[in-house]
Amino acid sequence: MSFPSGNSNCNTSRFPDPVFHPVTLELPDTFTERLTATAACVETMLDSLLDELPLSGEVCRPGRLLAAMRHAALGGSKRLRPFLLIEVARLFDRDDEGVLRAGAALECVHCYSLVHDDLPAMDDDDIRRGRPTVHRAFDEATAVLAGDALLTFAFDILADPATDEDAELRAGLTLDLARASGLGGMAGGQMLDLLGSAVSSEEEDIRRLQSMKTGALIRFATRAGARMSGGNDGDITRLTRFGEIAGLAFQLADDLLDVVGDAEALGKATGKDAVLGKATLVELNGVEWTQKTLSDLVEEADALLDSYGERAAILRQTARFIAERHS
Ligand code: IPE
Ligand code: IPE
Ligand code: MG
Ligand code: MG
Ligand code: MG
Repeated sequence: MSFPSGNSNCNTSRFPDPVFHPVTLELPDTFTERLTATAACVETMLDSLLDELPLSGEVCRPGRLLAAMRHAALGGSKRLRPFLLIEVARLFDRDDEGVLRAGAALECVHCYSLVHDDLPAMDDDDIRRGRPTVHRAFDEATAVLAGDALLTFAFDILADPATDEDAELRAGLTLDLARASGLGGMAGGQMLDLLGSAVSSEEEDIRRLQSMKTGALIRFATRAGARMSGGNDGDITRLTRFGEIAGLAFQLADDLLDVVGDAEALGKATGKDAVLGKATLVELNGVEWTQKTLSDLVEEADALLDSYGERAAILRQTARFIAERHS
């Protein structure tokens, strides 16, 4: 596909909603191969969703905005949130296009959050996933709009019957994602993050801000996976908790990597949190405490999955990967 760069380039032809044909892959058993294969499916899904042809009800898809959204959403992500959603659903034997779409919706919220997080008004970063941030590759106004449109698109994807034929489930997922993304979730957490250590450096406050800015979307991932695949109330509670633990581990590892990580491997700048006065648990409690806490969280995650035995092996390894990652 080629991408028009002009502002006015709009393809207004109406086509039926595209039918997505997933790449059928033999599901690998090993964690790394499975993560890679799943990320490739998520990439294909996002690529097909972020197509230049407008959907019914859309007037046209301006080329420059679409190009900025594709820059934000395609290429270079670990796709950990969709992976968690999809792997939880696999635990209950659901593995289909609907789950992949829900993972793609979640990834749209995540990518939007990064586009805005990188803006000069927020963390002011130039490099993301080893490439220029969206406001660098385009401009700030386009980056704001790309974030807006990705966030909105996430709810479009979730609300579409192609995600699940059960309208009540779709409404439930939509509500969960809204709560995870907005005022009392990710956006609220970003507000607390910006206020930073000027407001509080109490451990409890930092944990709360992290559970919102990063934890909420990861919690949505595991919860949605369980809800979509018919997990019972006990499963949903357990896997929601698993998501909370994974979310805390994820941000702890991110903050640790900001201090001890390698910018090239990470594809983004390091050493920013101290400069920007961010309140983090690494800054409060030190590197050693953080490493020990990460390994405790991996154990806690392991124990939570006990009742699923070997079937949850990939999820256990995911928790370990989140805590021990270098990128
Ligand atoms: C980075 O998220 C931002 C945080 C929430 C800490 P990821 O490390 O998941 O970013 P990508 O999607 O893999 O680039
Ligand atoms: C980003 O946290 C969290 C969200 C985008 C919601 P960070 O600001 O620590 O993420 P990086 O380090 O820029 O990836
Ligand atoms: Mg930030
Ligand atoms: Mg940042
Ligand atoms: Mg960070």
